[in-house]
Amino acid sequence: MNYKFLSSKYAGKAIDRSTSGDVPVEYDDLINLSIGDPDIPTPRVIVEEAFRDALAGHTKYTASRGYPQLRQAICKFYKDRYNMEITDGQVFVSTAGSVAMFLVMQALLDEGDQVLIFEPGFFPYPDQVKMAGGVPVFVSTVLEENFQINFDRLEKAVTEKTKAIIINTPNNPTGVCYTPQTLEKLADFAIRHDLVAVADDIYTSFDYTQKFTPIASYPGMFERTVTINSFSKNFIMTGFRVGNIVAPEYIINVIKMINENVVYTAPSISQRAALHGLEHFDEFEGEISAIFKERVEYAYNRLKNIPYIDMPRPGGGFYLFPSVKRTGLTGAQFAKKLMDECHIRVIPGGAFGESGLYHIRISCTVSVEKLAQAFDRMEKLSFE
Ligand SMILES: Cc1ncc(COP(=O)(O)O)c(C=O)c1O
Repeated sequence: MNYKFLSSKYAGKAIDRSTSGDVPVEYDDLINLSIGDPDIPTPRVIVEEAFRDALAGHTKYTASRGYPQLRQAICKFYKDRYNMEITDGQVFVSTAGSVAMFLVMQALLDEGDQVLIFEPGFFPYPDQVKMAGGVPVFVSTVLEENFQINFDRLEKAVTEKTKAIIINTPNNPTGVCYTPQTLEKLADFAIRHDLVAVADDIYTSFDYTQKFTPIASYPGMFERTVTINSFSKNFIMTGFRVGNIVAPEYIINVIKMINENVVYTAPSISQRAALHGLEHFDEFEGEISAIFKERVEYAYNRLKNIPYIDMPRPGGGFYLFPSVKRTGLTGAQFAKKLMDECHIRVIPGGAFGESGLYHIRISCTVSVEKLAQAFDRMEKLSFE
């Protein structure tokens, strides 16, 4: 292959990681458990009110930090829900969580700065760090420790170049939710080492064990935390591509400047949808969260009875991350067998980091009935 015109950073490195939208459907009876996109529709009220706003003319560029009304609604949300006083200047409306993470890394990192990333973890993090000139430093979380943070390992990963730590709870892919005690220890860790915490707070409606509390609300943390929120999962708005960043104002100002050179503003119609989503959140959040809780619990109860599976009880999110090591297969080999013999697609755990090599990620973005069919098929697998 001739990569003549490509940047040497990317030549030969185009890996297709699509898990939604344009993935092939190999079998008529395929059950796709690989997608991180909820199967249920966006709450109707959001679509209707955004549509009405679009007809009323909200189809133009917006203020570059987002519509003032939406920024105010975000401040109010933080006050009502977490009793946090966020000022307007500390809010930036982004093009979903993904672009938000890109902007945050660009704003924070100097060449060679190290960023602590728990693995298994959401797979774009390392590349987001590298694209900003940073160096990802992985800290493993393992099945034997229920994927909880091992603070000894974390301490050993710190160097004088460490600048930031990415925190994601409820977690994709492991389903772990950090307890308040763990968050307190993380806050203490960040303060002691003078680090920025980058909180990827994207599954906050899906903490099934406790009321979600942002790490930014812990004492001494706001001034060193950049929080990324997305409307994708909590509001079932993945295709709207809208999210927000909450951070100290001097960081937001730089993020705004970078974003003006990338996309200028988040899409106006999506911002209107986000505004209406926040206005109606209390009406639908519980129902959505209950759907996923039921699915995750169902999937866990089925999986734990399959003899070759090992996994902790997930605390939140949409995902389960079982180990298939006892079959003698890697996650990738197991995923292939599942596809070939059961017509089920899952993601090999190695995609999320080295500690996921013998795992698969199962996404509960299909109904309980579909999950039941999938596990019925899975139970018939045999391993010689
Ligand atoms: C942990 C985590 N962070 C960020 C994202 C990005 O979501 P979006 O760009 O749709 O806001 C996802 C999506 O799956 C995710 O799982």
